This record gives sequence, structure tokens and C-alpha cells, in this order.
Amino acid sequence: MLKEVIATRYVTPLREGGSLPGIVEADDLGTYVMKFTGAGQGRKALVAEIICGELGRRLGLRVPDLVRIQLDPVIGLSEPDQEVQQLLRASGGLNLGMDYLPGSLGFDPLAFEVGACEAGRVVWFDALINNVDRSWRNPNLLVWHGELWLIDHGATMIWHHNWPSAEKAVAKPYDASDHVLAGFGPDIAAAAAELAPRITEELLTAIAADVPDEWLADEPGFDSPDALRRVYVTTLLARARTIGDHITLGERSKDKPSQAPEWLAGKPPRRAVK
Ligand SMILES: Nc1ncnc2c1ncn2[C@@H]1O[C@H](COP(=O)(O)OP(=O)(O)OP(=O)(O)O)[C@@H](O)[C@H]1O
Ligand SMILES: [Mg+2]
Repeated sequence: MLKEVIATRYVTPLREGGSLPGIVEADDLGTYVMKFTGAGQGRKALVAEIICGELGRRLGLRVPDLVRIQLDPVIGLSEPDQEVQQLLRASGGLNLGMDYLPGSLGFDPLAFEVGACEAGRVVWFDALINNVDRSWRNPNLLVWHGELWLIDHGATMIWHHNWPSAEKAVAKPYDASDHVLAGFGPDIAAAAAELAPRITEELLTAIAADVPDEWLADEPGFDSPDALRRVYVTTLLARARTIGDHITLGERSKDKPSQAPEWLAGKPPRRAVK
């Protein structure tokens, strides 16, 4: 079960995130990146963060620890930004927190080198969860202490926005051409052979149990949170069996592959990350 903490101080917003995540301190003395139930992306983004974040971690990928955070909007009363005030007011109760990695850098494929094995594992995992948010435009990877960390799994499992489409989504191919690690020769076959057998019903059921009932309640077509958990499990389980054969790595789209300043772009050597 995910640890539950209470937010004690709203520190600052993270402006680079579209959902306006914020840094908060909590009663366990931890510092977390908090994702709010009241954000425009809605509670399904938080469900995806838990299911995919925990799945990634259990597959051995690095994902910062997740916690449930209780928020009393009163902690943001002195926050001057009106947008933040509204977000906090709309998010009383349970929200999601991710351990804050102080001093981490955004991953840039021109500055860091990733091995084919690690790249393959990340690409296969993103294909499984249908992550459209790990492109070179928006890598959602951090480098911390020389290692690669995966963040932001809110825009995954597109099928959970339209459950009748889920059965079809199981076999939906994944185009990894614009994936931020596409240029590192990802060894997808090795990753599929290693990771697919580890996706079991027991594993997925345990992960789905971490999602709070209140984020799963009242979904049209499902009479209980557990009925909804079940379909998250069956969809990912079925997709894991075949997705390795349906990943394409084509030509990258034309725009610039990096947001890095010119003085950094192409400057050898790149630093290796694990
Ligand atoms: N655990 C963390 N430790 C340190 N910095 C983080 C962490 N999580 C997120 N960040 C920083 O905050 C930014 C926004 O976070 P994130 O991508 O999760 O938010 P989002 O609102 O879902 O963003 P997006 O605009 O990609 O949809 C990241 O790009 C990163 O710079
Ligand atoms: Mg992001």
C-alpha cells in the first residue's frame, strides 16, 4: 500500500508542468512533487501515475517513490498566485505525491548517453502503457546522481478515457519514432523477453489496489472500484503479451530533437547514465 502523508507547507509551483504540480513538504519531513485532483487533467491522470509508476518501479525502472498526500487547502492561504489558490481549493483531500529529487536535471539526448539495454527497457515499458509523453519534445526523464529516473505517467493508458475501446487498444501498435531514447538503439527484443513474463495478474492486481477507491468511483459502466481495477489489470496483462512485436522505430519528425542551447548540443563527450 502506498504510504499516506499530510501536506504541511506549500513551497512553490513547478511552472514547467502543464498540470501546475507544486512542491510541498509533508508531516514525514519529506519533500514531494504534488499532483492535484483539482487539476484540469482530472483524477484519471493520477490513477495513471500510480498504476504505471508502480508498474515501472516493480519492473526495475527507476521511478521516484509515490505517496498519497492529504491536503487541507488552508496551507496555501498565503500563496499569492490566484491560479495556485484555485488549484489548492479544488483539491482538498487525497492527492498524489512523488518524492522530489533535489538537483536533478532534465534528460537531454544530446548531453547524456543511454545504453541500448536500458533504452530498450524504457521504450518497451512506454509501449506497454502507451505513453505518448516521453518524446524528445517532452522527455519526462530526469538524471539524478548519474542515473535515469522516470517521471510523469499521467498521459498513459489512453484507453481508460474510453473503456469500450480498451479491447481494441490491447493490440494497438506503439510508434516510438519520436521517443526520446529512440536514437540509442533500444534493444526492444531483449527488453520484451525480460520484462513481459514479469507482468502477471498478481502483480497488476496488487498495483491496482494502491489506487484510492474515491478516484475509481462512479465510472460509467462499472458498478464498483474493484470492477474498474479489474479491467486495468486485464488490459495491461493482455497488452504485455504482444506489444513487443508491435513497436515501430521509424524516422523522427522534422523539428529539432533538442531544446538544449547550442553550446551544449553536440559537444562531446556525452555523459553516460545508468
Ligand atoms: N520527482 C521530481 N523531482 C524533481 N523534479 C521533478 C519531479 N517531478 C517533476 N519534476 C519537475 O517538474 C516538471 C513537471 O513535472 P511533470 O512532468 O510530472 O508535470 P506535468 O504537469 O505532468 O507536466 P507535463 O507538462 O509534461 O504534462 C518536470 O519536468 C520536472 O522538471
Ligand atoms: Mg511532464
